Amino acid sequence: MGEEVVTQAPPASTQNRRRAHPWFAKYYSRVAVAMDRGGLAEYRRRLLEGLSGEVVEIGPGNGMNFRQYPREVTRLVAVEPEPTLRALARQAADGLSQSTEPVQTTKIEVIGGVAERMPLAAASCDAVVVSLVLCSVPDQQAAFREVHRILRPGGEFRFMEHVRSQGRAAAWGQRALDATIRPSLCGGCRCARETGEAVAAAGFEISELSRFRFPARIYLPTPTASHMIGYARKPA
Ligand SMILES: C[S@@+](CC[C@H](N)C(=O)[O-])C[C@H]1O[C@@H](n2cnc3c(N)ncnc32)[C@H](O)[C@@H]1O
Repeated sequence: MGEEVVTQAPPASTQNRRRAHPWFAKYYSRVAVAMDRGGLAEYRRRLLEGLSGEVVEIGPGNGMNFRQYPREVTRLVAVEPEPTLRALARQAADGLSQSTEPVQTTKIEVIGGVAERMPLAAASCDAVVVSLVLCSVPDQQAAFREVHRILRPGGEFRFMEHVRSQGRAAAWGQRALDATIRPSLCGGCRCARETGEAVAAAGFEISELSRFRFPARIYLPTPTASHMIGYARKPA
C-alpha cells in the first residue's frame, strides 16, 4: 500500500501575504479613476443597468462600480481579497452611505474572500457581477463553479472583462506577455484569456455578448484593449 498523502491549506498568514499586492492596489486605484473619466464609466453603467434584488460583486477593487448600481439593487455584498483595495472599497461604500446626494439606496457590505471559495451560502443571490477580475483569478473554473453555487436558479451573471484579441498578431503578443512579465507586474492579470467562451463552457446561458475597444483611441500598442460585456444566466 502507498502512503496516504494529506494536503493541507497553507496557514492563513501565508495566504494573506499571497493575496496582498499593495503596490498594484495603489497604482490601480488611481488608474481606475482615470479610466472611468476616459469613458469606462459608461461601460460600467451598461454592465449594471437593469439589475435588481440581492447582488454579489466579486473583486470590486476600490469600488468603482458602487455608485452605478441601480436603486432596485437592495443589497450588495462585495467580496475583495486584496487588503488595501478592500479598505478603499469600504471607504467608497461609507462615502456613498453618508452622501447627501440621493445617488442610490443599495446597502453595501464589503467582505474578504476569493472567487474560488466565496464565504456565501448556496442559491443566496439574484446576480453576480465581475469587472476586470476574471483576467487575474488564478482558477477560473473554480470561480465559475462558485458563481453557479451562490446564484439562485435563473440568476444573472454579468461580466465586463478585457479578453484575447481577435487579431492573430495581437493575440500572440498577449500570450507572450502572459507567459513572462505581465502576471507578476500586474497583480496576476493575464491578457489573453477567452473569457466569453469560458463562461459558456461553464454552463451559463449567454444572452448577450458585446465587444468593445477601450481606450477607443489608442496611440501605443495596448495588450488589454479588447474588452467584452456579457450577460449570462444560471439555467432556471
Ligand atoms: C483590475 S482590478 C478590478 C477592480 C474592479 N472590479 C474594477 O472594475 O475596477 C482586479 C480585481 O480582481 C481582484 N481579484 C484578483 N484575484 C481574485 C480572486 N481570486 N478572487 C476575487 N477577486 C480577485 C483583485 O483583488 C482586484 O480587486
